Amino acid sequence: MNLEFLDKPLASIDAEITIVFLTDKLLEETTDNDLLAKAGFKAKQDQLCLLHEKGVLYCGIEKLNRDSLRCAATTAVRSLKDSNYKSAKARQYFLKNTQALVEGFLLGYYSFDAYKSKNEPSSFKELFVSVENFDASVLDAKEVKTIVDESKTVSQAVNYVRSLVNTIPNDITPPSLALIAQKLADENGLTCNILDENALEKEEMNAILAVGRASVHKPRLIHVSYKPKNPLHVISLVGKGLTYDSGGLSLKSPTSMVGMKMDKAGACAVLGIVKAISELKLPIEVHGFIGAAENMVNGNAYKPDDVLKAKNGTTIEVRNTDAEGRLVLADTLAYAQQEVNADYLFDYATLTGACMVALGPYTTGMMGHSHGLKHQLSKIAAPSGELLASLPFNAHLKKLLKSEIADISNVGSKPYGGAITAGMFLDNFINDNMKQKWMHFDIAGPAYSETPWDCHPYGATGIGVRFTVEWMRTLLNEDKK
Ligand code: BES
Ligand code: ZN
Ligand code: ZN
Repeated sequence: MNLEFLDKPLASIDAEITIVFLTDKLLEETTDNDLLAKAGFKAKQDQLCLLHEKGVLYCGIEKLNRDSLRCAATTAVRSLKDSNYKSAKARQYFLKNTQALVEGFLLGYYSFDAYKSKNEPSSFKELFVSVENFDASVLDAKEVKTIVDESKTVSQAVNYVRSLVNTIPNDITPPSLALIAQKLADENGLTCNILDENALEKEEMNAILAVGRASVHKPRLIHVSYKPKNPLHVISLVGKGLTYDSGGLSLKSPTSMVGMKMDKAGACAVLGIVKAISELKLPIEVHGFIGAAENMVNGNAYKPDDVLKAKNGTTIEVRNTDAEGRLVLADTLAYAQQEVNADYLFDYATLTGACMVALGPYTTGMMGHSHGLKHQLSKIAAPSGELLASLPFNAHLKKLLKSEIADISNVGSKPYGGAITAGMFLDNFINDNMKQKWMHFDIAGPAYSETPWDCHPYGATGIGVRFTVEWMRTLLNEDKK
């Protein structure tokens, strides 16, 4: 769909349908008040009313704010996508809501149809937005254009992530994920270095090798980097790339195995962030490190009771092969720190079901040692449209990772606080000089859902991209102060 912001009043734009967002207060003021009342339209959030003869699609919003507008734009664009209309137009309302409007339309329009044999494309292809303010004055077109272009870039990166995560495990394996990263690098002028299983052995990355050992698709360590001239910061991003997580010998139940193609969402988010930052041309050097493996079962599978020596020398007692993500991240985090001396080190992982129990399915769990960093991130979450909450480390939970025969166990000895014990496990692979620069994001909840929410459809959401890009932008703004 082509989304264009036009520097002219709404009335002068040619389109089949006008989308009008209404709060209940504004409802009384519309000329279609009587018709809408007959149709039972009360301007409730996401309530739609199409007056075909009038050429207007009304969509209710609770408030004229970012979140309401983004969700309403998604609802409106989805209904038009299912219609036979070809074009629509809307008004922008306020400058500060521009990003929400672009995201609502572009993220809302997205659907994943790659495996449908009868894939009929929607006739709805054009959406124009008038740069007309609420008081009918026209907003500063240049300012709007910058926000629109940037929001489009970010939204496209989110949709890119969604499609990768939605792709089935037969089509994305660790080696093919490496090729996808290579392709992104070629297209966006990035460098890409791929470590195959032999290179992983040379690097003594025994944890990721153990996790991937039972699969015919061998593990890969993928390093993509965007290196602008004179960067103001250097940031390393690490992603969990389990192209499938069957649980291994600690096999998942049939119902909890379904959907585990999403266990590569952290890795895909990292690719999406590098894509967005390189296209926005931000003066930040960004390194993406992806630990890609497939957690499967065969006669050579790694086992509960095995002891693995990770890249940084730490020995790990395996007590559950389904806690594989932290093993892959252990080596990948160690490798990232060996390769790049970064100002910040963030990791993204669909790491624990426990994080969903703790925070619900929509919120990313954020863990780390730096209160300052957590505070910064909390502040930018809402404007970015994503939900973030901090889960605190503590010394008592740390003890639950104690192992009698190795340095640490890969699972906690009590069934509670699993998101935090997983985060504290990762802490064992963070060098002392990086402790305050590291943040772990458990995206197990919001990365994938079989029920649509906010601007997200069935399946992958592309979570992680928007809050990280927003945080990087504020980092650059702080520099200017
Ligand atoms: N990939 C899963 C975590 C997950 C669960 C993501 C549900 C999304 C939805 C991870 O590898 C895993 O299996 N974790 C275990 C850890 C346990 C064995 C300590 C879990 O959460 O049950
Ligand atoms: Zn698992
Ligand atoms: Zn997993």
